Amino acid sequence: MHIVITGGTGLIGRALIDYLLPARHDITVLSRRPERAALPDDVTVVGWDGVSAEGWAHVVDGADAVINLAGESIAGAGALPARWTPARKRRILESRLNATNAVATAIARARNKPRMLVQGSAVGYYGAQRDDTPLDETAPPGRDFLADVVTQWEAASATVEAMGVRRAIARTGLVLSAEGGSLPPMLLPFKLFLGGPLGDGRQWLPWIHIRDEVRALAFLMTEPRASGPFNLVAPNPVTNRDFASIAGRVLRRPAFLSAPAPILRLALGEMATLLLDGQRALPRRLLDLGFRFDFPELEPALRDLLLRK
Ligand SMILES: NC(=O)c1ccc[n+]([C@@H]2O[C@H](COP(=O)([O-])OP(=O)(O)OC[C@H]3O[C@@H](n4cnc5c(N)ncnc54)[C@H](OP(=O)(O)O)[C@@H]3O)[C@@H](O)[C@H]2O)c1
Repeated sequence: MHIVITGGTGLIGRALIDYLLPARHDITVLSRRPERAALPDDVTVVGWDGVSAEGWAHVVDGADAVINLAGESIAGAGALPARWTPARKRRILESRLNATNAVATAIARARNKPRMLVQGSAVGYYGAQRDDTPLDETAPPGRDFLADVVTQWEAASATVEAMGVRRAIARTGLVLSAEGGSLPPMLLPFKLFLGGPLGDGRQWLPWIHIRDEVRALAFLMTEPRASGPFNLVAPNPVTNRDFASIAGRVLRRPAFLSAPAPILRLALGEMATLLLDGQRALPRRLLDLGFRFDFPELEPALRDLLLRK
């Protein structure tokens, strides 16, 4: 298959490429800095600005699938989380809308439309949840900043459906990877013997092992019945308190020092919602279509990621 990936240089994109390459797919990545992409030689890297379809739109003509993951990091690219200043919030939203509009324009211009689009998304769609209600893909959108971003991000690619392109929306949870993303900073306090639940620890953590994330993206790409929204989360989400005790057990570190919510809110501002809120999202539609998770339970997932030699 010829697969075009935006955001292919990111955490999920790189893992997806590593997963797809052995099957000899023809992969093209769109990057704002192709010279720094550092992807395997077999991958074609094409420059774009993440805003317009000029100069690169031909690459989606005749492609089998487009996977649209590009967007400014939500937690910040540095080692420490970066506060959501008004300027960062604007970049988080606009980077996703601009990139997705550019992808939709390129698809509209293609003489041979790609057969399908995997639209990046997040379980933040459902908003910061305060109770224990399980959320499948029929749950309504939330009303906070991230829910608003994600709702608009998804909507920006809706036009491709009228062009006959199958669209699967990947509402991804917290991707657990040893290579980056949220897991290494989450585990740092444990490594320093300071680990424990965040806030009251009752918030849900809709996690997914990076391997299942890329397997699910590939599944959505090749499964002809996959259209509409899919929660990419393990079937057994845990509370933050459970996460802390499992992480402590796997790392053989204490896990009882809870970080008070007011201090986290003071330090991180509105962004503290990433740590103090969550969603009890379930992968109903993936399971209905027969997708099987390699890592349905958190403890084996963490053991695989953290103790693999
Ligand atoms: N990781 C998670 O836990 C998680 C959970 C839910 C949803 N998601 C979503 O899934 C997508 C991929 O996640 P990820 O963790 O792989 O993200 P990532 O590591 O931050 O990579 C995102 C990629 O998007 C591109 N990008 C960054 N800022 C951009 C901008 N202003 N305009 C256009 N492109 C830009 C970058 O590619 P270039 O620099 O090469 O252009 C970058 O490699 C993201 O949109 C993220 O919000 C991730």
